[in-house]
Amino acid sequence: MRTFVALTIAFVTAVIPVYGQAGIAATPPMGWNSWNHFAGHVTDADVRAAADELVSTGMRDAGYVYVNVDDTWQGKRDADGVLHPNDRFPDMKALGDYIHSKGLKFGIYSSPGAKTCGGYEGSLGHEAQDAKMYAAWGVDFLKYDLCSFQDNMHKAEAEHPDDPNAANALMVAAYKKMGDALKATGRPIVYSLCQYGVDQPWKWGPGLGANMWRTTDDINDTYGRMIAIGFSQAGLAKYAGPGHWNDPDMLEVGNGGMTEDEYKTHMSLWVLLAAPLLAGNDLTKMSEADKSILMNKEAIAIDQDALGKQGDRLYESGDLDVWTKPLSGGRVAVGLFNRSWSVRDVSVDLEKIGFKGNAKVWNVWQGKDMGRRSGVYTSRIPKHGVTLLVVSK
Ligand code: GLA
Repeated sequence: MRTFVALTIAFVTAVIPVYGQAGIAATPPMGWNSWNHFAGHVTDADVRAAADELVSTGMRDAGYVYVNVDDTWQGKRDADGVLHPNDRFPDMKALGDYIHSKGLKFGIYSSPGAKTCGGYEGSLGHEAQDAKMYAAWGVDFLKYDLCSFQDNMHKAEAEHPDDPNAANALMVAAYKKMGDALKATGRPIVYSLCQYGVDQPWKWGPGLGANMWRTTDDINDTYGRMIAIGFSQAGLAKYAGPGHWNDPDMLEVGNGGMTEDEYKTHMSLWVLLAAPLLAGNDLTKMSEADKSILMNKEAIAIDQDALGKQGDRLYESGDLDVWTKPLSGGRVAVGLFNRSWSVRDVSVDLEKIGFKGNAKVWNVWQGKDMGRRSGVYTSRIPKHGVTLLVVSK
């Protein structure tokens, strides 16, 4: 096992940096995923309705192009090992064709384990077969979720008590196996690792051709969980770039568990993090506020900026937090966050972020030119709120 681990590490190091297939995920992938709202009840009709809404609401044209079916689409394998969808998904190829006919892309979900997190069929032992089938269905995105493979890792750990890397090496090999199987199909398929940040996937994911990897455990539709994930991303910026992104999990905007200010905080933080933007709400029931948050063009442009740099924390003081993200053209996006329970003033020194003399300040959520400013810029921010700025020369 020691030799195996050494070889795995040598391999991964040798192929870094090879950032997946050229051109895929040049900017953080955007789209919709069924899980956060529909969870284990999702149907073909729900997914088609989401595709329709992506078009009619203008979300597709704002950049949300992936339509990703998460866990629970799977049925049983037949005698040849071919996995069939369950009754809620009569025809995956037809679903893919429908999604493509709308100018959208088709995403799917599986696990390196025998079972998925929802207890449905995983891809263990059928990686190449499944990858070929996805390609035949026209799949453009695969989320590959660790879940039951953790049993195999525990077993490896027990069998090799002398080798602290046995479990992780097995996991990396399993993710490499599917990465290779996807590459072998010849179809460009975004490869999204979902293993909750176990063993720092930002260090080895790119070497396996992964285009994004979850950095944490699951999000839920509460302010507490969302900020716990979002603000824990400090220090990861250097691992993201065109073709390979840190993924702090999908969006909860529009699911109803947070206030409008809290959802603006969610969206602001995710765009500063250059996070994949996968809406997770019921698109057939969006309020005007949900739409204006998800489709704010300038917020999206921060996320999708061509420079492809993830933002990071500038400073934190108690419940006040300031993050910046370098943008193309020498501009800088700034998030001033107030996590406290009352209105607070939050400041940023424009000189400290590279603007000597005066700079142009644009307030994204207000859609307002704040004029030319110099020195310390202060914004009054409601509880759990944010001011998102773009500063330029
Ligand atoms: C895990 C993932 C979620 C979702 C579910 C599906 O919890 O992290 O995003 O895919 O599994 O079962």
